[in-house]
Amino acid sequence: MNRTTVRIVVLGAGAGGGLPQWNCGCAQCAAARRGLIAPMTQSALAVSVDGDEWVLLNASPDLRQQLADCAALHPRSLRGSPVRAVVLTNGDVDHIAGLLTLREKTGFMLFATEATQGVLSANSVFNVLDPALVTRSVIALDVPFEPLPGLTVTPYAVPGKVPLYLEDEGPPALAAMGEQTIGLELRTAEREVHYVPGCAALPDCLVRRLEPADAVFFDGTIWTDDEMPASGTGAKTGARMGHIAIGGAEGSLARLASLRGRRLYTHINNTNPALMPGSSARAAIEAAGWEIARDRMEILP
Ligand code: MLT
Ligand code: MN
Ligand code: ZN
Repeated sequence: MNRTTVRIVVLGAGAGGGLPQWNCGCAQCAAARRGLIAPMTQSALAVSVDGDEWVLLNASPDLRQQLADCAALHPRSLRGSPVRAVVLTNGDVDHIAGLLTLREKTGFMLFATEATQGVLSANSVFNVLDPALVTRSVIALDVPFEPLPGLTVTPYAVPGKVPLYLEDEGPPALAAMGEQTIGLELRTAEREVHYVPGCAALPDCLVRRLEPADAVFFDGTIWTDDEMPASGTGAKTGARMGHIAIGGAEGSLARLASLRGRRLYTHINNTNPALMPGSSARAAIEAAGWEIARDRMEILP
């Protein structure tokens, strides 16, 4: 296959908890349990340039099922995997817990910022990843690296906060630009794709960065900032969780109106009304030319 092509498989389009979430009876979780809407596993993509070797963007708690459901990621010999690398965008549970699934003596490269690598090294359970086989590589903001031949990835800061389990000393900085939450620019000779599953705000510099992309996967966690309090499912706003809403005058749909490539919302929380066919939220997203990512969807941008 031509090395300049890029294949992207949505392993999981859901946010933390997935759809349905184990302890949630909201309208979307109930609809998923009744088979009315498709379930979603938690947030990750798989990317390849040659169809043989793959890199995972985030390692979700559902990774075992995601690998089983994707034939391109099955072993091709007695032991081994086409997964050559994992790149993490933050240290949230829904993006790192799947590393524990990858513990059975097959090597890969593990790329993350120093801040996120620090989270892993501070949690000794990740020592199940044999250091003789799993190489942890620190990536720096705005410095490109090549997790697969022909695929250049450039990490960049996006507004975000520290993982929930590190919020031990009072409310964290909510839209800090640093190493704790990153976006990824994926580049082959012919294509540019961005993956930003968590993002608290859209400053002009980030909008400009996304504009040239052939495809953008962007944070679709919530439709409105007060979605969880208003639906009675939780006390936190989107801003407090580090996620910009899709809708509204300052939402991502309005802020990203200048994008022209393929545009997909991912990391979609089960409370998001856009998951419901026929909802006004979904109609607004589709009318603006955006798609809602689905598990097992494959994109050839
Ligand atoms: C998030 O995206 O806000 C986190 O994944 C929440 C969590 O840790 O459950
Ligand atoms: Mn998340
Ligand atoms: Zn729910």
